[in-house]
Amino acid sequence: MTKPNASAEELFQFAVQAQSFAHSPYSQKTVGSALRLANGKIYSGCNIENSSYGGTICAERVAICKAVSENKGALVTEICVVSPVPAGARPWPPCGFCRQFLSEFATSQTQVWLANAGGVTKGMTLGELLPEAFSATDLK
Ligand code: THU
Repeated sequence: MTKPNASAEELFQFAVQAQSFAHSPYSQKTVGSALRLANGKIYSGCNIENSSYGGTICAERVAICKAVSENKGALVTEICVVSPVPAGARPWPPCGFCRQFLSEFATSQTQVWLANAGGVTKGMTLGELLPEAFSATDLK
């Protein structure tokens, strides 16, 4: 576990801003995410739900898609996700789909900052969240 630092706090602020744009009329759960690329750029996203339910996109994947669609060779060095739980409560970790999606544009050392309404409570590496990840090397 990594202790939150200034970099994590900056991403938290962007994630909270993005959270306010959540489109979540079905779950009523608002999620925000913000990430930093190796080139220094920051992108954020919110969860976007769909009446078909399965068409829902998590906040993390929205942020990743925004980043990848504007940066050739995008590499995520850190990502923060703020979930709709109060300060003191366990923050939501990224879902399995988002862990796999992130791994395409990250390394096992990429920091994932987990936050509740009060701020970032802990940091984990993607390698901790997704050990034995399936990746492009398996396809060779
Ligand atoms: N959600 C996220 O945005 N990120 C996660 O990692 C977990 C779940 C969203 C999807 C859905 O809109 C709502 O939270 C409830 O699952």
